[in-house]
Amino acid sequence: MADNGVVNPWTVSGEIDYNKLIERFGTKLIDKKLLERLKKHTGELHFHLRRGVFYSHRDLDAVLDEYEKGNRFVIYTGRGPSGPVHLGHLVPWIFTRHLQQAFDVKLLFQFTDDEKLMLNPELTEEEVDHWAFENALDLMALGFEPAKTEFIVNRRHPDKVYRVALKVARRTTASTVKAIFGFDGDTSPSFMFFPAMQAAPCFIESEREGKPVPCLIPAGIDQDPFWRMTRDTAAKLGYPKPAQIHCRLLPGLLEGGKMSSSVPGSAIYTTDGPNRVEEKVNKVKKLGRGPEACPIYQYYYFLLEESDEALTRIATNCGAEACIQCKAQLIERVNNLLVDHRTKREKVRPLVTDLLDL
Ligand code: TYM
Repeated sequence: MADNGVVNPWTVSGEIDYNKLIERFGTKLIDKKLLERLKKHTGELHFHLRRGVFYSHRDLDAVLDEYEKGNRFVIYTGRGPSGPVHLGHLVPWIFTRHLQQAFDVKLLFQFTDDEKLMLNPELTEEEVDHWAFENALDLMALGFEPAKTEFIVNRRHPDKVYRVALKVARRTTASTVKAIFGFDGDTSPSFMFFPAMQAAPCFIESEREGKPVPCLIPAGIDQDPFWRMTRDTAAKLGYPKPAQIHCRLLPGLLEGGKMSSSVPGSAIYTTDGPNRVEEKVNKVKKLGRGPEACPIYQYYYFLLEESDEALTRIATNCGAEACIQCKAQLIERVNNLLVDHRTKREKVRPLVTDLLDL
């Protein structure tokens, strides 16, 4: 496969060779040995691990070493609230919920409303407040344990995050930030500070407890540049280096790259009604290319078909004749998932109001 893929927190495009990304980012493949080790703690392996949707890591083994000694870790992930949640966002969150349940650990979930305002001068404060609430509904609808989930909304909770962010920012330099994130003259100067805000939750539990608390970050591999900077700083501050477990990115419906809100029509949002879903899926072109290259198959693979046997059947049947049926099935299954998801979203409203301190 051509390695012309661009993968960073703000751009994902081209054909992504996920194995090459491991080399480029300096991460490790989750190998059989590590899978066996995880299985001892989680029972049956989650389908995202079995089929390599979550496929790369840093220091996951070190987190397990500590866990096996009786030292609990914290999990940390987040969302930039600038619009509705799409099916791609649900991928790492579904796996995060699995981790929370399997290891009975606390989740810190950060909303980087500040990041979104710095990146987009058109966006209003009211809009990011609105989307943080709406996105939190999507998250909690997935069944996270409320007593073990803490939200950090950067503009709303500076008391939780700012002091630690400042510690991080003091230990980094403009050249490090530029080298990792590639900023240019058009970038807001405030953005120099932002990576420290995203780094801070990695260390919050260590700060609170006054002892090292390991932190594991389940997220898309596009977020990795943040952790490279964070890991360098951790050593300087005497905190444990945060560990990561990375997933591949659910492709968009229209072209290469990931499902993304910046390419209209490439994403199915949790708010899309049955007709919108049908319209979007029916626009997928170039069918009959074989399962790996087909976005329709990827939706079964990443999200909709947990049974490996059923997935193999879908792959085996792949071909011009089965396409129409495969698409029709996908439309029905996405709509069923979304109807159920929206019911759950309504149920968690009071809970989310509480968790966000509204
Ligand atoms: P954001 O809002 O861009 O993305 C939220 C999460 O969704 C993942 N993601 C995807 N995963 C699979 N397939 C896709 N097509 C896809 N698109 C997005 C992202 O990798 C991410 O895990 N700055 C961050 C918010 C943040 C954060 C964090 C994310 C703050 N702290 C810690 C991860 C971990 C952002 O804007 O994410």
